Amino acid sequence: MKNQIIETTEKFVQVELGEDATGHDWFHVDRVRRNALHICKEEMTGDPFIIEMAALLHDIPDEKLNDSAAAGMAKLALFFQTIILPEEVKNHITEIIESISYKGGRKTELETVEAKIVQDADRLDAIGAIGIARAFAYGGKKGQPIYDPSINVREEMTVEEYRKGKSTSIHHFYEKLLKLKDLLNTNTAKKLAESRQQMMALFLEQFYQEWDGQDL
Ligand code: ADP
Ligand code: NI
Repeated sequence: MKNQIIETTEKFVQVELGEDATGHDWFHVDRVRRNALHICKEEMTGDPFIIEMAALLHDIPDEKLNDSAAAGMAKLALFFQTIILPEEVKNHITEIIESISYKGGRKTELETVEAKIVQDADRLDAIGAIGIARAFAYGGKKGQPIYDPSINVREEMTVEEYRKGKSTSIHHFYEKLLKLKDLLNTNTAKKLAESRQQMMALFLEQFYQEWDGQDL
């Protein structure tokens, strides 16, 4: 029964996200699911079915893929009407997705261990080699430059730069990606993040060397 629900959910997500090129494609979702189930197993906590469902559906209501956050949540609710599950299970999955998809890094603690695990799984896919690839894929789609040394990092932005939303994909590392390691909830994710963090640091170091022609 649960296997059938997972399969139906996979198909729904594949259809909804299949064509996306902003880094929210099906392969991202599949990696998040795998990361989340791995963390669940290692930490020996959380309900694997809830975790797998939340991981599969976590990007469905994303504002970037819908007209608004509300429209995205409505799409999720509509999908839940087509599957048979206890209301409290549907509500728990919805809560997880709502709480982790909040952009801007909500400071309050997540409610459940399942939410913490899915959030970690999603964050792991935003760092490391995959995270680097996704940042430039997203930046390219948005028409944002790879890098511009004249733009300050967000903390030091002028009001005008901030208002214009000026940034680059390299700046995104300082605004978000390099900070994710310290925001992880579980020890399993923290351990996995170590080599991914090193990968990003090494990438940035080499990037500036080549940018400045120091390797010539
Ligand atoms: P998530 O899948 O964790 O919900 P987001 O929706 O925030 O992630 O972003 C999707 C991907 O695009 C992530 O890998 C993220 O790092 C990247 N991304 C988001 N905003 C930017 C940006 N301004 N510049 C470059 N990459 C970005
Ligand atoms: Ni995601």
